[in-house]
Amino acid sequence: MNKTTMFMMGAALVCAMASTGCQDEYEVKTPSYKTGLATDTLSAAPFEKVFPRQYASYRQNDESSVMTEYKGSVAFQKHSDDPLPKGFSKNQPYLKNLWLGYPFSYEYNEARGHTYAVHDILEIDRINRYNPEGKGNMPTTCWNCKTPNISQWVKEGGDKVWSKDFNEYRQMVDPMNESISCATCHDTANMELKLYSIPLQDWLKRSGKDWATLSRNEKRSLVCGQCHVEYYFQHKDHGPAAKPVFPWDNGFDPEEIYAYYNTKGAKGGQFVDFKHAVSGVNILKAQHPEYEFWQDGPHGAAGVSCADCHMEYKKQDGKKASSHWWTSPLKDPDLTACRTCHSDKTADFLKGRVLDTQEKTYRQLLKAQENSVRAHEAVRLANEFAGEKNASFEALMAEAREMVRKGQFFWDLVSAENSVGFHNPTKALDTLMSSSEYSQKAVDLCKQATNYGIAPALEGDIKQLVPPIKEHSRKLQQSAEHLASHKWLSYLPQLPEADKVWEGNKRVK
Ligand code: HEC
Ligand code: HEC
Ligand code: HEC
Ligand code: HEC
Repeated sequence: MNKTTMFMMGAALVCAMASTGCQDEYEVKTPSYKTGLATDTLSAAPFEKVFPRQYASYRQNDESSVMTEYKGSVAFQKHSDDPLPKGFSKNQPYLKNLWLGYPFSYEYNEARGHTYAVHDILEIDRINRYNPEGKGNMPTTCWNCKTPNISQWVKEGGDKVWSKDFNEYRQMVDPMNESISCATCHDTANMELKLYSIPLQDWLKRSGKDWATLSRNEKRSLVCGQCHVEYYFQHKDHGPAAKPVFPWDNGFDPEEIYAYYNTKGAKGGQFVDFKHAVSGVNILKAQHPEYEFWQDGPHGAAGVSCADCHMEYKKQDGKKASSHWWTSPLKDPDLTACRTCHSDKTADFLKGRVLDTQEKTYRQLLKAQENSVRAHEAVRLANEFAGEKNASFEALMAEAREMVRKGQFFWDLVSAENSVGFHNPTKALDTLMSSSEYSQKAVDLCKQATNYGIAPALEGDIKQLVPPIKEHSRKLQQSAEHLASHKWLSYLPQLPEADKVWEGNKRVK
């Protein structure tokens, strides 16, 4: 690291700690170049010649075998306790149960490097590859966080593009070169930071912010906030159908996001991602809210950006460059990124602090998850209860369903957030405690609604009452035997027998 970098980083820290808006004094601009390439050159390959050092670190995203204690880049199935690479010790056994009735229950894997984003979405069982007409039954919106090509498609086709079928675009992306690419974050004519993401541009407009006047450090996080956020596919009653929107109008906290969703569905009612197959509760599926958790955590609040930890300067051939290997900072045994600021601490000490947060968060995450499963089971039992019901049965059950929905959303926010608590330790634990409270409330309401008739059936170890669903996929849902193998699976309709129509981006039938 050279002296200028040291000064800049040191200055950023002093500035952050004083937090008196001194940023402008020190702010150095993102370097500008004349690349000779057109603005929005979508493929990454042409950049190798112009920026060999950044491109070399970009290709390190191809690494996909190293795990840390809780995270890392093996794309294991997140519900599975099998050994790597299929499962991992830090799994979440009830994921398939909690998403039953929604494509996430077919397959959900640990994230890996940016260069795999297109490859992995083409392989995932969440998008239908068995439909004889070739349809994926998911909107084009899914491409939004995988390839910068989407901005081109929307420019040409307008807002209608969002609700087109995902598979219509399957053959229009080069998986290895047009995944998350230089044009995702840069104006490729001069390499200044630039947003390609339409939902983030919309949000800046809604909140009266102008990209051109934001500080360099804000941009070094917002480029990540194009995708590492909670979002939803807009309901047609509120604007273009399936357009991606960030639910931040009330604020970034789980309570605020939840309140927002309760008015964004059909005719201003609840927004719903899916109806749970067993309990029938209207569920929200949360997505990776790294930006929302980071922004008021200890680092975000102090002005430390995503790039400070995930893109530290590295020396290559005697020259510094921002690392474009976006991965766990804990893979570096020296924790160089962290010790740029925490220079008085050892790598072991800092790693110990991260693990301390993660261990406690993971423990509460598993509890909140089990409480959510028990809440669905309580609603199932109450729905089918044949004994004498409470006079206020309907009202109590309406409240119970609301508590199941809220409890599961709060659990899912932390479950989907990729740092296992580190980006914001207090918010993670607060959110999980609230989740457990809401789910427990749901169980109590169901008991009350049935005059405690179902109470005995809810006693005891949840793993005995409702075992985790270990295997499930679109192919398996074509089998009657599979659907008879678990009490909860029996609530699913059997899918018609069909073969795979799509392999990667090739149509095989
Ligand atoms: C203070 C340093 C720091 C900042 C700032 C920070 N992160 Fe992280 N991030 C971490 C650490 C530490 C982990 C946990 C890695 C692990 O457990 O192996 C992590 C984990 C992640 C992961 C999961 C990594 C994996 O291996 O799967 C993602 C994705 C991520 N961060 C994105 C972001 C984004 C986006 C931002 C900004 C909104 C951000 N981070 C800000 C330190 C940071
Ligand atoms: C996910 C967002 C993202 C993507 C994708 C991305 N970059 Fe960057 N890049 C950044 C950020 C953030 C910086 C730091 C800017 C700053 O410090 O002001 C940066 C800085 C740079 C710089 C300035 C010099 C330096 O090293 O800091 C160059 C050159 C560069 N990137 C090239 C590339 C190339 C080539 C690609 C594609 C192979 C690419 N970038 C892809 C986010 C990205
Ligand atoms: C265009 C959307 C997009 C942008 C912008 C983006 N990411 Fe990602 N990121 C993803 C996706 C998608 C994955 C998972 C890819 C996969 O598993 O195939 C991912 C994965 C990651 C991972 C996990 C890698 C691993 O080895 O497990 C980290 C860390 C990460 N991103 C950090 C960042 C940071 C920091 C920024 C900003 C500089 C950023 N991302 C910008 C979409 C994006
Ligand atoms: C750009 C500077 C910067 C970088 C890089 C950075 N930190 Fe920090 N860190 C801070 C600041 C500022 C605070 C807040 C200090 C305060 O509020 O007293 C902080 C606080 C902390 C804390 C105490 C709060 C908590 O979360 O428990 C820990 C632990 C920590 N950092 C670990 C890390 C680790 C691990 C990394 C690397 C993955 C890292 N930091 C990277 C500047 C930085």
